[in-house]
Amino acid sequence: MTPTIPKIILDTDPGGDDAFALLWLLSMVKKGLAELLAVTTVDGNVGPEITFVGACKLLRLTGFSQIKVARGVIGGSQFNETDAAFLHGVDGMGNLTNTLEPCHLDYEAADYGDDVIISTLSQYPHEVTIIAIGPLTNLAAAERKSPGILKKAKEIIIMGGAFCVPGNVTPEAEFNIVYDVEAAKTVFSSRDDLIVIPLDITCNLIFTPAMAIAICKSHAQTPLGKFILSLVDFMTENSLAWRETGSQTGFLVHDAATLAYLYYPENLKFRRGYITVETGGEFTKGKTLLDNRRKTKIGANAWIAIEVDAVNLQGAMSEDLKFLISNLSFPNH
Ligand code: BDR
Ligand code: CA
Repeated sequence: MTPTIPKIILDTDPGGDDAFALLWLLSMVKKGLAELLAVTTVDGNVGPEITFVGACKLLRLTGFSQIKVARGVIGGSQFNETDAAFLHGVDGMGNLTNTLEPCHLDYEAADYGDDVIISTLSQYPHEVTIIAIGPLTNLAAAERKSPGILKKAKEIIIMGGAFCVPGNVTPEAEFNIVYDVEAAKTVFSSRDDLIVIPLDITCNLIFTPAMAIAICKSHAQTPLGKFILSLVDFMTENSLAWRETGSQTGFLVHDAATLAYLYYPENLKFRRGYITVETGGEFTKGKTLLDNRRKTKIGANAWIAIEVDAVNLQGAMSEDLKFLISNLSFPNH
């Protein structure tokens, strides 16, 4: 039997860990195991134009500049007190994007993320997987503009939320949720089978400089090799400074765990439940709540990852990234 190749929209706010998720996904495209229909960028780790440019440059770096890139919708309930440039760099990717080839697409002329989500899901009803690894602004805008549209996705995989661990923005809230709480609320109400990958498991995914060296090996001097090695060094230094990883050398590749769900699900264990988002709390805005009571799961809206085999997940990611860096199409790579 020929396997069905997933058609994918990646909704992202690059982001050091977003970059690794995108590279992992591109390795799957390269292997013929994914069809990436569009990258919809979103305001989040850094501003909307910067995430757009970052995504474009990454696609160009890896020889995938033909892939459609959309710009992020503005004007959700964005949490404007802070972005995450302090962690990811002012360009979202370790202040390294100025070392890459210029952006090949025009931000002003680009389609908006919500429109691309609506048109793609309408063109391929129940066939498209959305991987959402930034604030949920684009997805919610699509749902508001075209009610019911998110049900036309085959599945939606979200990196977001914190249930039994502290948040990473406030004591209670995780970044992708608190950055646009109304959007999160809209998306969590949109269907009953969301796949949610929270901080509870992603805080175990410490990607180290040693792993990056092993991946790049004989490709360390290529543009992609240099980028990966420098990004990991940058993220590692900042993550230690911000106590993201305790005393461990490395950084958290939160967003990459969404790929594991699609390609290596044996590394994750899930619980079925009902998630709500606190949109108004004075101290708890952005908190995600999971109804853990032992009762029938009528009304549940999500599958929530509760355990991860971090060693094997990162092993799979490393091998796939090695494949990507060894198989780029440019002669000078
Ligand atoms: C999430 O927040 C962002 O900073 C990361 O890119 C990730 O998507 C983790 O809380
Ligand atoms: Ca992200």
